[in-house]
Amino acid sequence: MTDFELVKLALEARTMAYTPYSHHKVGAALLCKDGTVYKGCNIENAGYTPTNCAERTAVFKAVSEGHMEFEAIAVVGGMDNLKDLPLCAPCGVCRQVLNEFGDPETFKIILAEVKNADDLSNITENNVNITVNLLKDILPFGFGPKNLSVI
Ligand code: THU
Repeated sequence: MTDFELVKLALEARTMAYTPYSHHKVGAALLCKDGTVYKGCNIENAGYTPTNCAERTAVFKAVSEGHMEFEAIAVVGGMDNLKDLPLCAPCGVCRQVLNEFGDPETFKIILAEVKNADDLSNITENNVNITVNLLKDILPFGFGPKNLSVI
């Protein structure tokens, strides 16, 4: 699975975003170490705080299906009236959730700016500008499972 292929799956996931309040649609595609991919979108709520981000939707789908070893996540997002999507980096809460299951030294965070994201039938590598970081780069000094280890 290439970074570009994972971004395309994140774009697909974004089409399912439920965003009547912010109109900001996000899609994520989470690649497990065994090659399985879980897609997620943001799901908003009239109570606002119960809103779930796309990244956490993907992680919770994966963990609830027995997958906890992750290699990479691709994230795309932007306001739903935009043709061209800017970079959309995971929020702080999602970084913390990713840190629970991904190894910060190796887990890849794949972000993409996308031109003409309103027409997914025509997405090629030319439309997509990908930036890759490791989890440790976007969550320095993270607090995680190792801090609570009794061993
Ligand atoms: N959102 C995500 O889904 N992922 C992020 O990392 C940033 C924010 C969603 C939450 C909310 O539905 C909307 O974008 C605006 O904050």
